[in-house]
Amino acid sequence: MSIVLSGIRPTGNLHLGNYFGALKNFVKMQYENECYFFIADYHSLTTHPTPADLHGNVRQVLVEYLAAGIDPEIATLYIQSDLPETAELYLLLNMNAYKGELERVTTYKDKVSKQPDNINAGLLTYPCLMAADILIHRSQKVPVGKDQEQHLEMTRTFARRFNRLYNVNLFPEPEAYNFGQQLIKIPGLDGAGKMGKSEGEGNAIFLAEDPKSIRKKVMRAITDSGPTEMNQTKPEPIANIFSIMKAVSSPETVEYFDDQYNKCTIRYGDMKKQLAEDIINFTEPFREKVKEISADEDYIHKVVKMGKEKAHISSAATMKEVREIIGFREF
Ligand code: TYM
Repeated sequence: MSIVLSGIRPTGNLHLGNYFGALKNFVKMQYENECYFFIADYHSLTTHPTPADLHGNVRQVLVEYLAAGIDPEIATLYIQSDLPETAELYLLLNMNAYKGELERVTTYKDKVSKQPDNINAGLLTYPCLMAADILIHRSQKVPVGKDQEQHLEMTRTFARRFNRLYNVNLFPEPEAYNFGQQLIKIPGLDGAGKMGKSEGEGNAIFLAEDPKSIRKKVMRAITDSGPTEMNQTKPEPIANIFSIMKAVSSPETVEYFDDQYNKCTIRYGDMKKQLAEDIINFTEPFREKVKEISADEDYIHKVVKMGKEKAHISSAATMKEVREIIGFREF
């Protein structure tokens, strides 16, 4: 039994990348571990949402966590900003994080080039806040997608640095986790890169998306003029469609289209039609549950309150020790 933690930023509806990279594993892990899953609302402030959007997105992600199968009676499901201890640990970790190492983080460099007019300090110290999330519960395993690997490496660095500085063994060095398999990256439908909320229109398929819109997006996915040689390597846009298909379709379906590709007889239109229907079938139960849970205000209220109380027990215990170790002692 390990202490497991992970989080998702509330920046809109969850997409297939969030599900296959992270949420699916949360659901699997909750029964055999001490699990903390949260909504990273502090993190989402780096993009300056309006108060109404922030609140609405937190609610939506909470509902989607529950719809995907997180049991709030078993796992601890909470909102990041409900734990002030996280903010306190973040402040303390900032004192031992260096500008140079923070500037080298890939996701930071990415943001600098994508949003040059909003390079705020929160973006630079993003890995410190993420480390605070993880270390506040002294977590050992962190189920995440491939894009979070470097953040985990930073968390290990900060944990080691703290332990060494104060000559203690307080924080474990957490590992990114995917059941002994490689971390996952689900690609987007627009030909290159990962599926993501901040990518272009048509890149991501959302778990709660209506079937009509799913069909439209999949049919518009970028392809090429088709293979010209037997068994040729698939270029990125085509490999991407196959990757998504592997996640949602049966192995027989994937094998069928793979075979067609290798024989140069593939019809992308047929493949996309099949993929759209498989995504729709896969997400159907999820859509139903989102509707049901979203209508139950009392239940949502209860879940948030319970999560906050449960999470606080462990965060308060860690911060008590941290304060004592650092030298914040009572007179
Ligand atoms: P976020 O909100 O961008 O994504 C949430 C989770 O979904 C995974 N993910 C993907 N996996 C595979 N393929 C994709 N295309 C894809 N897109 C997203 C992410 O890897 C992530 O696991 N910084 C985090 C949130 C966070 C956190 C934490 C996570 C804050 N504190 C502490 C773990 C532990 C983030 O922005 O994830």
